[in-house]
Amino acid sequence: MSSAAVLTAAGSGTRLGRALPKALVELGGQPLVLRAAVGLARAGCIGAVVVTVPAAERDAFAALFPGGTVPGTDVPARVVAGGPTRQASVAAGLAALGDDVDVVLVHDAARCLTPPALVRAVEAAVRAGHRAVVPAVPVTDTVKRVGDAGPDGAAPVVATVPRLDLRAVQTPQGFDRALLDAAHAAGAHRAGDEAAAVSDDAGLVEALGERVWVVPGDERALKITTPRDLALAELLLAEDH
Ligand code: CTP
Ligand code: MG
Repeated sequence: MSSAAVLTAAGSGTRLGRALPKALVELGGQPLVLRAAVGLARAGCIGAVVVTVPAAERDAFAALFPGGTVPGTDVPARVVAGGPTRQASVAAGLAALGDDVDVVLVHDAARCLTPPALVRAVEAAVRAGHRAVVPAVPVTDTVKRVGDAGPDGAAPVVATVPRLDLRAVQTPQGFDRALLDAAHAAGAHRAGDEAAAVSDDAGLVEALGERVWVVPGDERALKITTPRDLALAELLLAEDH
């Protein structure tokens, strides 16, 4: 049996605001999706990567994986069309995994600076018997629940959420494959609708009533969402060199 990754790269990157899909945008001269795939492959515990991409851009993405492998490694890479939501894209990726895969890591191409050590930590936690594992970092902001904004735009504070036990969740998220398949099957009715779909796979597992476990995340696993995030990622990359 082996571990594989579903690398989600089928989003358009509306908030980044570029003409091309976010996963093709370059960071330090390398498209985000390629950098993310190399990070997964270099972890040493991932036997194959399935990349979910915008259907219309399939050829452009496939060209990044010549010979069907992650460049510089012998890890097979397969490019498949994603869906209208991240949840649907992950489901498409899961359907393309080989029969020998018993552990799946789901990872965002947008978290392309994730250190291989974090990939190994998540995979090892699943192998150790935790069937659903997410990396997470402490929340540093004070978080308040607010009500509806009035006509002047001001919204009332309803509650201040105690911060000590709050965590911001990252990827890769690791799962026993059978559990993740079951979670996606149970949540499939939501996959076509951006408002109803879940934004992370662990949410689907929680909805099944199964326990999800947290391991320490890493600030370098930040998700590139806005132009400011991309600028921050450039800084982190420069720090590493
Ligand atoms: N994703 C995907 N399929 C979708 C939507 C998103 O595979 N239908 C992927 C993105 O490519 C990204 C990850 O899920 O790697 C996290 O999504 P997000 O950061 O929201 O990326 P986008 O949806 O591309 O960005 P935006 O929401 O700003 O359009
Ligand atoms: Mg999105």
